[in-house]
Amino acid sequence: MSANAREVVLGVGAGIAAYKACDLLRRLQDRGYVITVVPTPSSLNFVGAATWAALSGRPVTSQVWENTHEVAHISIAERTDFFLIAPATADLIARIAAGRADDLLTNLVLASDVPIMIVPAMHPQMWNDAATVANVEMLRARGYIVMEPDVGRLTGSDSGQGRFPEVSAIIERFDAVTGNVRDLIGRKILISGGGTREDIDPVRFIGNRSSGKQSIAIAKAALQRGAEVHLVAANMDTSTLQDLNVTHVESAAQMREALAGTFESCDVLIMCAAVADAKPVRTVVEKIKKSLFTSIELEANPDLLAELGKRKISQVMIGFAAETSNLIESARAKLVAKGLDIIYVNDVSNGAIFGKDTTSGMILKRTGADIALKEVSKDALANLLLDDALRQLG
Ligand code: C5P
Repeated sequence: MSANAREVVLGVGAGIAAYKACDLLRRLQDRGYVITVVPTPSSLNFVGAATWAALSGRPVTSQVWENTHEVAHISIAERTDFFLIAPATADLIARIAAGRADDLLTNLVLASDVPIMIVPAMHPQMWNDAATVANVEMLRARGYIVMEPDVGRLTGSDSGQGRFPEVSAIIERFDAVTGNVRDLIGRKILISGGGTREDIDPVRFIGNRSSGKQSIAIAKAALQRGAEVHLVAANMDTSTLQDLNVTHVESAAQMREALAGTFESCDVLIMCAAVADAKPVRTVVEKIKKSLFTSIELEANPDLLAELGKRKISQVMIGFAAETSNLIESARAKLVAKGLDIIYVNDVSNGAIFGKDTTSGMILKRTGADIALKEVSKDALANLLLDDALRQLG
């Protein structure tokens, strides 16, 4: 079991529908699932390991003989919350029904004790064959969820029951299995993301390395869970997001104004943005000549989060901190000073975190136990923070 209960093994059997599983994988990721793809060795004839690795962002193994030191059939099984096997061929169904363990996927199935959903796809004669019918019956009797294939045209000229179901239908059924509930319906979540820029002159600015990726992960997860989301985005690309309010800002002053307008009505504020601590005392309208560009006089920016903390009514407030040393002490001090409920502290030593898809750090809470995270996806962190926010909202 994983910390966020969203770790899924996508098992891929050797059917032509394997190419449709590429889209399935993407749609599952959009819904907050974190996927490890385990293809059967013969399925790699249809879709290769490189495609799965690129799409999932994780290493892909199909045999127990690869990376043997990792003992993948146990280590993957331990962290997996759900299995989705799609497409499942007649052979794969038969091997699972017989309890065989002749590739990594079937080893994992035996080594796990979590819900397994199977999406068969094969020619109608094979689906209707007495052996397949008996195998499916046996699997259902053992608690496996086996979807009915669709009726229609197959790869060749034949038609009947055996088509890979529509991806939307698979997801609907899988969500029901996992209980991926829309638990944030009616909640207003205000998120800040990216890094502010403080103008020095028309060409130069003081900025920082924040990519905005974590705020995108939080916005996606919150939307997925049914929340109404407003993102105040500082110098970041939001083109992958839909169905939310976005206010684009550049400087801390603009971010302050954008947050002030929406804070009062939000239920949760997640202050993910890296706000510049200081800005030039003067911004000049003409580009400063190279020979005169020797020093910049700075003044402190207001602490936006601390300011909002003072205006808090019943909002749950979550802050982020990036530290290179004394992680926990510094973050706990900020939690108290800024009136936060939760703070996530990133360990950014050695250039880690910025621009990456994974994060390592600690979730510290005003009430409740701290959670240490090591190399988890930013999506997983997003869901953990939303879980906690929801708990605090009551
Ligand atoms: O920079 P610092 O470590 O204090 O940032 C901690 C939290 O405070 C972050 O959530 C950040 O978005 C917020 N912050 C802010 N205004 C600032 C500096 C930081 O809102 N001027």
